[in-house]
Amino acid sequence: MKPILELESARLLLRQWGDDDLREFATLCADPQVMRYFPAPLSRVESAALIGRIRGHFAEYGFGLWALERKDSGAFIGFTGLMNVNFNAPFAPAVEIGWRLARRHWGLGFASEAAWTSLRCAFAQLGLNEVVSFTTRNNLPSQKVMQAIGMQRDLAGDFEHPRLTADDPLRAHVLYRINRAQWLETLHG
Ligand SMILES: CC(C)(COP(=O)(O)OP(=O)(O)OC[C@H]1O[C@@H](n2cnc3c(N)ncnc32)[C@H](O)[C@@H]1OP(=O)(O)O)[C@@H](O)C(=O)NCCC(=O)NCCS
Repeated sequence: MKPILELESARLLLRQWGDDDLREFATLCADPQVMRYFPAPLSRVESAALIGRIRGHFAEYGFGLWALERKDSGAFIGFTGLMNVNFNAPFAPAVEIGWRLARRHWGLGFASEAAWTSLRCAFAQLGLNEVVSFTTRNNLPSQKVMQAIGMQRDLAGDFEHPRLTADDPLRAHVLYRINRAQWLETLHG
């Protein structure tokens, strides 16, 4: 068991999950627009199970997909954070960065802000050498966040997600990477 890290950005707390987060989280995971690039929206039971897995990851590693809370309103708006890649891939073992926000909080820069804070944690606190991110080829909003935080597409890294069936149109994935030196460059221009 590692001590659990909590982070803060200008407008957000990146905090541990509370039991009260389930209601909002289940609502956002049941939204077909939010889940457009995933196989299906989640039921409340599936969202609860996902929170359980996220908490398990925090308990084991001290970092994970943080619950995002807006400082101005105290609202829970989704998650952003770091997790170990949990399937076989040419780029694994690796730590990935990911995000999922409720639709009414899109277009405000919150995902990118939380992603910057998570990246700083990865390199400055956890001492990682590289962070990866991936998404289905058509998920351009997610790729925009990757680009916004200085990640670069690894063109040779395109892969078929092994958890999706061969005929699933979401199966073709793109891979982005950033290493410590590249991150330092983005910070110092
Ligand atoms: C991917 C996702 C998190 C991106 O959310 P987002 O709000 O578009 O991302 P950002 O936080 O980077 O916000 C950028 C937008 O906010 C705008 N913005 C407004 N204020 C801003 C600020 N202070 N700082 C930065 N951007 C700001 C930007 O102009 C940009 O708008 P644009 O998309 O019209 O160009 C969101 O679409 C989502 O939750 N999708 C569903 C889940 C998902 O697919 N997750 C990824 C799976 S791999």
